[in-house]
Amino acid sequence: MMRATALFLLLALCSMPALAADKGDPAAGRNKAYTCVGCHGIEGWKNPYPNYHVPRIGGQNYEYLVSALTEYKKGERSHPTMRAQGESMSDEDIRDIAAFLSSITP
Ligand code: HEC
Repeated sequence: MMRATALFLLLALCSMPALAADKGDPAAGRNKAYTCVGCHGIEGWKNPYPNYHVPRIGGQNYEYLVSALTEYKKGERSHPTMRAQGESMSDEDIRDIAAFLSSITP
């Protein structure tokens, strides 16, 4: 009985860092967002292509970014370019990238 309690406590402790990381890691997201720069631009979040409209994503709300990227990933949003982006991301990538993007002040 004591053993089971100790094991439970150990498991609970082990899952703590996972919970803390749930919001995504902005430092990891910075590297993962590297491929986004070509289209969305990162320096000051200005679009590098004047004739090519892309939404500004830096400084967006974290929850909004997670749900937008998840929708592309699942194919609930149909834009082909962003779908290709979303499909290559894991849920963790999405959280990290959203944490990074939402931490930028435009
Ligand atoms: C090849 C160009 C291209 C690349 C690379 C790209 N995007 Fe996009 N992105 C777009 C376009 C175009 C849209 C608008 C799509 C639409 O109208 O649904 C968009 C839309 C988005 C949106 C939705 C914004 C909103 O307001 O609804 C998010 C979030 C986003 N991109 C994040 C990213 C991230 C994160 C990456 C890198 C992993 C990335 N994009 C890479 C072109 C690109």
